[in-house]
Amino acid sequence: MRRKLAAGNWKMNGTSAALGELAALQDAHPDPGVDLLICPPATLLSAAVQETHNGPVMIGGQDCHEKTDGAHTGDISAAMLRDVGARAVILGHSERRAGHHETSEDVRAKARTAQAAGLMTVICLGESLLQREATNTLDIIGAQLSLSVPDSSTGENLVVAYEPIWAIGSGLTPTPDQIGEVHDFMRDRLEQRFGPGVGRSVRLLYGGSVKPDNAAEIFAISNVDGALVGGASLKASDFDPIIRALEQA
Ligand code: PGA
Repeated sequence: MRRKLAAGNWKMNGTSAALGELAALQDAHPDPGVDLLICPPATLLSAAVQETHNGPVMIGGQDCHEKTDGAHTGDISAAMLRDVGARAVILGHSERRAGHHETSEDVRAKARTAQAAGLMTVICLGESLLQREATNTLDIIGAQLSLSVPDSSTGENLVVAYEPIWAIGSGLTPTPDQIGEVHDFMRDRLEQRFGPGVGRSVRLLYGGSVKPDNAAEIFAISNVDGALVGGASLKASDFDPIIRALEQA
């Protein structure tokens, strides 16, 4: 059985004042029926780990470097994330693929380093609207999946998030059939590559405009094991009903 996961990606949002949202989340979910992960900006990691100390909310980073250390100004290593108390890292988010020219090969190298450091990697994939209209979406997803996921992956250290680029921050979401098609396909591909044991234990998240009012419908789709949530994870009052919908799915 895969334990469901509600993950929040705060992106470049939040200063110390936002830590109150973590406290509110913990108060609302002292003993959640699903795993909870919040990935705040790097500047808040240390304080977020302290805020959630001994509680059920895991803290994660939003990126790390593929190298373990060295002359990489402005970058953060996987070991640094571990050192500060982070337990996971988002890798290959489309905003990093687009804004920082990260390729799937880059993402795989980062994921290998992060997994070796003991972090759970949340690897993001997704097609653009142009790609969905012009090509077979499953070809795009299949290529991103095989190139971005390292051989060192297991059910514990790999989570895959399907995030259609056109659904992120747009208020648009794919139909349940479109989400189900991609998630079933990713499950098949992971089983083929890693065998049924590992392939069936990797959690598959959907991400892109998940909100309190569409969460239940999305969580009812086969092979959707949770969500990676951007905007609606910033306020505990928005994330809370999404978590509850996942608990009831
Ligand atoms: P959104 O972002 O929920 O604001 O659409 C999702 C994401 O980018 O992970």
